[in-house]
Amino acid sequence: MGGPTMAVMALKCPEIEVVVVDISEPRINAWNSDRLPIYEPGLEDVVKQCRGKNLFFSTDVEKHVFESDIVFVSVNTPTKTQGLGAGKAADLTYWESAARMIADVSKSSKIVVEKSTVPVRTAEAIEKILTHNSKGIEFQILSNPEFLAEGTAIKDLYNPDRVLIGGRDTAAGQKAIKALRDVYAHWVPVEQIICTNLWSAELSKLAANAFLAQRISSVNAMSALCEATGADVTQVAHAVGTDTRIGPKFLNASVGFGGSCFQKDILNLIYICECNGLPEAANYWKQVVKVNDYQKIRFANRVVSSMFNTVSGKKIAILGFAFKKDTGDTRETPAIDVCNRLVADKAKLSIYDPQVLEEQIRRDLSMARFDWDHPVPLQQIKAEGISEQVNVVSDAYEATKDAHGLCVLTEWDEFKSLDFKKIFDNMQKPAFVFDGRNVVDAVKLREIGFIVYSIGKPLDSWLKDMPAVA
Ligand code: UDX
Repeated sequence: MGGPTMAVMALKCPEIEVVVVDISEPRINAWNSDRLPIYEPGLEDVVKQCRGKNLFFSTDVEKHVFESDIVFVSVNTPTKTQGLGAGKAADLTYWESAARMIADVSKSSKIVVEKSTVPVRTAEAIEKILTHNSKGIEFQILSNPEFLAEGTAIKDLYNPDRVLIGGRDTAAGQKAIKALRDVYAHWVPVEQIICTNLWSAELSKLAANAFLAQRISSVNAMSALCEATGADVTQVAHAVGTDTRIGPKFLNASVGFGGSCFQKDILNLIYICECNGLPEAANYWKQVVKVNDYQKIRFANRVVSSMFNTVSGKKIAILGFAFKKDTGDTRETPAIDVCNRLVADKAKLSIYDPQVLEEQIRRDLSMARFDWDHPVPLQQIKAEGISEQVNVVSDAYEATKDAHGLCVLTEWDEFKSLDFKKIFDNMQKPAFVFDGRNVVDAVKLREIGFIVYSIGKPLDSWLKDMPAVA
């Protein structure tokens, strides 16, 4: 998030010098090379236009912080895995050390901007660290959460729905807000720049992600009911979404939401509600995560129950591992829970994803919960390997050869145009398709001979007779 945001800022504000700093040398080397450390459509073009002019990448963190007027902090804020608030609260270790470093090296007043998603009132804590170590220097803290989504980051940065800036209600606070607003005003219409107090800005980011995730859990809860009643979730979502008060976006039923933000931010929100003595509000948001977990497990259970209640020793093809299409990102991908559940039932998995590397898949299936957000050396990997039960292959035909069933877990476009006749001929019979993203043409596949399960759609007679365990 830091890299693309700052690159776009450099492009839009040629008179401002932007330096992206990171303690990781390989990452900075990648930013300075032809192979950027992340893939985002349009990013390379932006970086090439500005790098060496007013956009620089460096590991000399202290020097550049010392020289700067505004410091944006985009460090990771993982979910705590141990101690107080484990499994819910954000771990602010990296944020705190960044703040201490800023205080240490600064010799002039600075605006420090919170870019990472953080629990509400983090700014207050950071402000304390900065002022207690400031040696008389003035720091103004602003919250400026980012709403970009992966795969559309550059587009989102060029044309944001809004830019949100939160700051102190003092003269100095308002002056800092104005300084940051003037930066964004280079390309964002001023009426789309919302200025609030610090806490509103911090909370709005968590709230926005919680609302988006809640829509998906709502439609996914409906998908279970659709399967039970014979309604079609796509038709229901369309009918509901045409109400202009509701709107059509984020109503696609799926095997569950993933990604680095949704679950983490909701868990954070839950923790904050609990800490503020609001258990009812906490329980409300908890349900969004629970329905997501239910949806992933319901899908895996459907696979097992359809195949005579056992997948032991059976080959099952997994098509798609990334948390959504057009990315190689696997953080919190629903594929992890589905695969682990099938492995626990002794299935043999053959996994294919157009973008995700084998090493990543193996790591994800062996890693402890929430560890993905910590530096690699700190990640705990399960001692017992999953190697014998999991095979990672390089195309969908190899993955499905001799398989009893195939599961579509990411909505990659290429899965729509597979030669399903060829796939069917090479599979064991009866051949099952479990579509967790509603991307395949179920009618066509049934004509070929497949037994097809599509999330939230009227069930095949075969599946109706099998116990649907959740
Ligand atoms: C999200 C927010 O959209 C973004 O504003 C925030 O800054 C970061 O988190 P991202 O994680 O990149 O962005 O992905 P997003 O496109 O929102 O999708 C999240 C998950 O929800 C994916 O697993 C996706 O497949 C799933 N999803 C999305 C659904 O299951 N159904 C939908 O209708 C939409």
